[in-house]
Amino acid sequence: MEIISEIQKKYSSQGHDPEVFLKGLLVSRPLTYWDYIQVDTLLSLQHPRTDYPDEKVFIVYHQVVELFLNLLLHELQQLLGTNNPSDSWCEDKLNRITNYAEILNTTFQVMNEGLDYEQYNSFRLALAPASGFQSVQYRLVEIMCTPPEQLLHRKWREPGELKWDDPMEFYDKLYWREAGINPANGLPGMMLKAFDERYKELLIETFRRYKGRTLYHWALERQSQGRLTKKQLESLRRLDHVYNVEWPLTHLRTAERYLAVGGVVKQSTGASHWREYLHPAHQKRIFFPFLWSEEELASWGQLSEMTG
Ligand code: HEM
Repeated sequence: MEIISEIQKKYSSQGHDPEVFLKGLLVSRPLTYWDYIQVDTLLSLQHPRTDYPDEKVFIVYHQVVELFLNLLLHELQQLLGTNNPSDSWCEDKLNRITNYAEILNTTFQVMNEGLDYEQYNSFRLALAPASGFQSVQYRLVEIMCTPPEQLLHRKWREPGELKWDDPMEFYDKLYWREAGINPANGLPGMMLKAFDERYKELLIETFRRYKGRTLYHWALERQSQGRLTKKQLESLRRLDHVYNVEWPLTHLRTAERYLAVGGVVKQSTGASHWREYLHPAHQKRIFFPFLWSEEELASWGQLSEMTG
C-alpha cells in the first residue's frame, strides 16, 4: 500500500526502524475526547476561596476570558510573524482577532447578570489585592497592537514619534500604572507591585520584540502603500473600538452594578480609583489613530456604538 511505503520512507530517512512505529500503532490505546481535550485537568483548575457558589462562576468566566485572549494572541503572532502573506489570509486572521474581541464583549453578561449581588460582595473580600487588572495577556494584546506612545498615560502622550531606546525609559509612564499607584506615597501598591514582580520582565521583552512591528505598523505600512483592503480596514477599526471602548464600557458598567449602588462607591479589590480610571474616555486608549477622523478621535470613548 502506498501509505505504508510512505511511512517506511519517512522513518527510514530519519534513521528509525519503521516497523517499531507500526507495531506501536497496534498496542497503543485509541485516542479519546477526554484525554485529548484534557477535560479532567481543565475541571480541576477551579479553587474557590470561599463557600459562595457563585465564586465558581467568577473563576470559570475569568479562565474562559484568558483562553480567548490566548487565541487572540495566537492569531496576532501569526499575522505579525508571516512574510508576504496574501490579502485574503490577512483578512481571515484579522477577522478571527476581531471576533475574539467581540466574544469577550458579548459574553461579559455572564458577569453582569450571572452573579448574585450579595454573594459577589461577600466572596470578593477574600480576593484582595488580586484584580483582573493583573491579566498579563490583556497587556500583551495592547503591546502587540500599538506602539508605546499610544499606551502612555495621557499626560505623557505627545504627538509625533516617541524618542526612546529602551522600554525601561517609559515603563513607569504607561497609562495603566495610574490604577496601581498608592496616592499616599506615589509608589506601586500591593496589586501593581505583585504584577511588576511577576511580569515586568516579560512585558519589557515583548515591547522590545515588537518595536516597530506592531499591528499599528503593519496597518500603517499597508495604508501608505494603498494595500489595506476594505475588509482589513473594517476589522482593524472594529477591533480598536471593541477592545478600547465597548469592552471597557461593558466592564465598567458591570463594576458599577456591583460596586457603586445607592450613591456609595465601594473600594475595589485592587484599590484603584476605578470609576474614573476604567472609563474609555479617560484612558483614551486608541490602537490605530490614523484610521479614525479628527471628530471620532475627539469623542473617543463617549459613544458606546461605533460611528462609521
Ligand atoms: C464582577 C465582575 C468584575 C468587576 C466588579 C471588576 C472590577 C474591576 C475593577 C474595579 C478594576 C480596576 C482595578 C481594581 O481596582 O481592581 C478592574 C480592572 C480590570 N479587570 Fe475587572 N472586574 C470584573 C470582571 C473582570 C473579568 C471577568 C475580567 C476578565 C479577565 C476582568 C479584567 C480586568 C482587566 C483587564 C482590568 C484592567 C483594565 C484596564 O487597565 O483598563 N475583569 N476590574
